[in-house]
Amino acid sequence: MAKIKSKFVCTDCGTESPKWLGKCPGCHAWNTMVEEKETVVKTQGVGLRMVHTKEKAQSIIHIESGQEPRIETRMQELNRVLGGGVVPGSLILVGGDPGIGKSTLLLQTSHAMAVKGLKVLYISGEESVRQTRLRADRLGALTEMLYVLCETNMDHINDAIETIAPDFLVIDSIQTVYDPNVQSAPGSVAQVRECTAHFMRVAKIKGIATVLVGHVTKEGAIAGPRLLEHMVDCVLYFEGERHHTYRLLRAVKNRFGSTNEIGIFEMGEEGLREVANPSELFLSERPLGVSGSTVVASMEGTRPVLVELQALVATTNFPSPRRMSTGIDHNRMALIIAVLEKRIGMFLQTQDAYLNVAGGVKLDEPAVDLAAAVSLASSFRDAPTKPFDVIFGEVGLTGEVRAVSRAEQRVKEAEKLGFKRVIMPEKSLKGWKAPEGIEIIGVNTVSEALKAALG
Ligand code: TYD
Ligand code: MG
Repeated sequence: MAKIKSKFVCTDCGTESPKWLGKCPGCHAWNTMVEEKETVVKTQGVGLRMVHTKEKAQSIIHIESGQEPRIETRMQELNRVLGGGVVPGSLILVGGDPGIGKSTLLLQTSHAMAVKGLKVLYISGEESVRQTRLRADRLGALTEMLYVLCETNMDHINDAIETIAPDFLVIDSIQTVYDPNVQSAPGSVAQVRECTAHFMRVAKIKGIATVLVGHVTKEGAIAGPRLLEHMVDCVLYFEGERHHTYRLLRAVKNRFGSTNEIGIFEMGEEGLREVANPSELFLSERPLGVSGSTVVASMEGTRPVLVELQALVATTNFPSPRRMSTGIDHNRMALIIAVLEKRIGMFLQTQDAYLNVAGGVKLDEPAVDLAAAVSLASSFRDAPTKPFDVIFGEVGLTGEVRAVSRAEQRVKEAEKLGFKRVIMPEKSLKGWKAPEGIEIIGVNTVSEALKAALG
């Protein structure tokens, strides 16, 4: 009988300690040490280590280069996020809130892969085979080459991988899988770490592209040790507001491509549908000629997206006014309100202010500042904005409008969707020519922008 040891492991960085500590000595986070019981199985441990092949160091110019081979899925949005397709032998981690559509996305991807003639093994630890079949019926994801297994025991999963020898493997989810040689409960730090390390070896040695689904914690990070994210090749987050149908797939780490890309999907009756032209979708419900509404050109990765911003400024009933924002950082909104008060002279201290990005999108680049400022001012003054304006620019603390990147692409997108005017930083005008048929107004201060937008 193996000896059962107890130890404390940090859920953030995986640092171990023989006794409980309030503060992790590794990453200095508070309250992250949890108790784990682990059987020390020495013989098994050796078998689980990396298979060593002795290699010699070689000069970098003698190493064969060339493009990473990629399996292109039929889902363009997924290809884009992964940097051009799935790399064989790569390990991809997909995180997201419960019910956001991770299983749906991966079943659809599995189907798309199987249709291409690849052998796919979809392992579900959360749903029965019948439930998966029902979902596949709904999604129209029925292919001979798609194999489904409902299993959580790592040994059995290994057997299935041996017999099926898939090209594409999905583990839904990593928190439900357990290695019987590790005594901790499924989902614990030790289990998640061991199982991920195991799948990494399987992926690399057998060349199977593997996707792990990960649960997220209350704070929105993938549950389990932080080093999980270090171990895998790509970390993707599937996000969206539950009450909206849009879903965004965002890469936060990608060893084979850029991390700026996002893929946009819409959840419907028959599963996820790709959204090829997001701007059109985000602007489809926009009211015209009302106060507080502006359109901003924001970059999502390499792609410009036009999104509607809405502000409502109304007299407050509270001693300290409310400031609420959805889709925009709360601190940025506070900064813009302070600039409007101090530099433009708007008296907002007796006003509640709400700022909302329509469609449940999150905008986190400073180029949305100017549109936010115009929206707030427009609502405060009750002056409607012009329906054919697009606004972007960063706002500085002195009320100046600062240059932003990729101005040309933003303007082109505005022109493509039929907008007539763009209000943007004057400093971003150099080095390119605006397309015909669109008027460009370069501004240097917030006050100039307000004059141009609200008259
Ligand atoms: P699911 O993929 O099970 O989420 P996760 O694996 O991230 O927990 O998605 C579940 C939600 O998606 C559920 O609320 C129903 C909805 N849904 C649709 O709207 N249309 C569909 O075709 C499917 C399969 C699910
Ligand atoms: Mg699921």
